[in-house]
Amino acid sequence: MARLEIVPSVLPADFSRLGEEAVALEQAGVDRIQWDVMDGCFVPNLTFGPDVIAAVRPHVSVPFEAHLMVQNPDELLPRYVEAGCEWILVHAESTLHLHRTLSRVADLGARAALALNPSTSAEAARHVLDLVDMVLVMTVNPGFGGQAYISSMEPKVSEVAAMVAASGREIDIQVDGGISPSTVAGAAAAGANVLVAGSALYRDPEGLEHAVSDLRKRAEAAYVGPAAA
Ligand code: DX5
Repeated sequence: MARLEIVPSVLPADFSRLGEEAVALEQAGVDRIQWDVMDGCFVPNLTFGPDVIAAVRPHVSVPFEAHLMVQNPDELLPRYVEAGCEWILVHAESTLHLHRTLSRVADLGARAALALNPSTSAEAARHVLDLVDMVLVMTVNPGFGGQAYISSMEPKVSEVAAMVAASGREIDIQVDGGISPSTVAGAAAAGANVLVAGSALYRDPEGLEHAVSDLRKRAEAAYVGPAAA
């Protein structure tokens, strides 16, 4: 069975203390940290440049992933890899030549993932599955944390899961947006094994460690992976 991974978004974190916030997330038992990179063009918000991520990098050993919600990601790819991101998530909608962009991620020595906005068909993944180690099905429209989970994305998660199973490749399926104790089971049951959460982790009154552990337990209880070969 695929490992269920909990990956926090740092969007709700205290931006004046990002190093300490990353340490707290690592101590809470997260599997990776997701940096929501936004350029104010692809999405109506602006967040982390590579230098911010590079400044936090030495404080923790947990892997980083850069979720590039940017126009024309190609020129930014090397900057985020150099900043210390082991994973680069590229939106299908953000580049004219997706196959080339994803190939460049691997050429830079990072692990590539494909991100799909809610209105983008799972079919967009079909001809690039050989280039990625993960497919992200967005469960909100990108740009902001704290939005409502779009449950109608669950059939698309299952569609991607079936495509991945048929490919015979080990590819993780990630969901991002509105993931919480009340929505995580639906996403895991649809086939997602990597759960990104921001606001749900930070609003848990029992703290980050409880939030991470609770989300993981709920996901493990509900997860339906690819049929055993
Ligand atoms: C949207 C962001 C958010 C964030 C998670 O662009 O990518 O989905 O990571 O936010 P929550 O968990 O608060 O919905």
